[in-house]
Amino acid sequence: MYQIKTIGILTSGGDAPGMNAAIRAVTRSAIYHGLNVKGIYRGYKGLISGEIKEFQTQSVSNIIQQGGTILRTARCQEFMTEEGRKIAYENMVKEGIDALVVLGGDGTFTGAKIFANEFNIPVVGVPCTIDNDLCGTDYTIGYDTALNTIVESVDKIRDTANSHERLFFIEVMGRDAGFLALNSALASGAEAAIIPEIVTGEDQLETLIQRGFRKSKNSSIVIVAESDSTGGALGISERLKKEHPEYDARITILGHLQRGGRPSAYDRILASRLGAAAIDALLDEQRNIMVGVVHDDIVYVPFTKAIKDDKPVDAVLMDVLKALSC
Ligand code: F6P
Repeated sequence: MYQIKTIGILTSGGDAPGMNAAIRAVTRSAIYHGLNVKGIYRGYKGLISGEIKEFQTQSVSNIIQQGGTILRTARCQEFMTEEGRKIAYENMVKEGIDALVVLGGDGTFTGAKIFANEFNIPVVGVPCTIDNDLCGTDYTIGYDTALNTIVESVDKIRDTANSHERLFFIEVMGRDAGFLALNSALASGAEAAIIPEIVTGEDQLETLIQRGFRKSKNSSIVIVAESDSTGGALGISERLKKEHPEYDARITILGHLQRGGRPSAYDRILASRLGAAAIDALLDEQRNIMVGVVHDDIVYVPFTKAIKDDKPVDAVLMDVLKALSC
């Protein structure tokens, strides 16, 4: 049996509010179970360059409420090469790290899966991304906070949209997933959400025009998911200008504002549960899995499943949004 004595923890890819709460949970839970913990800085980059520090209970004090990640993060090209991963493994051995807990999204888990298989080491993932686009978990850490940040921003834009009786296209993040766009549209009372999942079958802008948006209202807000397939808020508004110049539209791109800020209570609780579950999973001899939450129960999801498919958005929510914006 593979006896784990020391775990390494890292955060990789785009940061997400609640990552610090997860770092705290993993560290404290590991120490509680008698394991040593080493913090690896700047994701896989730090594993390659050897930026590794011993973590104690106090190393994670006073961080549960902070956005970002105290471990810093990076997207690492070198880890995509065999040579890079070999150096990373050698550093793990040198540091006496027997297992890894990696916090991030699909890019992080893709790297983790290859690394774990190549060197036969236990790796467990904790889903942290504002996009909520990992399969096998209902929610990812950071999504709830980002959603609330978007809704707060849209509420503010609504004030000026209303005063000027204007149409606004507000672009939100999500890479190629529409969770943030669709649910922020519902929560902010927006007219519609233009999301990548629907774009293939339908010209969503034209549908909106045909439906006659803004006729009976003095302002309209449309949430647009960033994505090449939607064209983003800029693409949509340029099309509108050309095809329907009668509309006086404005755009707002919320950008990285969505990734910052204090994590919501929900994200802190989710991070605490999943961080502790990651250590339970390692002690339970699980490897190559992501811990997740389904119907509020903790689940173990193989990396291959977590990153494989496109997680579907709930199509019924599109209908609800349509009905409520009539
Ligand atoms: O995956 C998280 C995310 O914030 C996406 O929503 C967005 O497309 C991307 O990261 C932005 O990445 P970067 O910070 O590298 O520009």
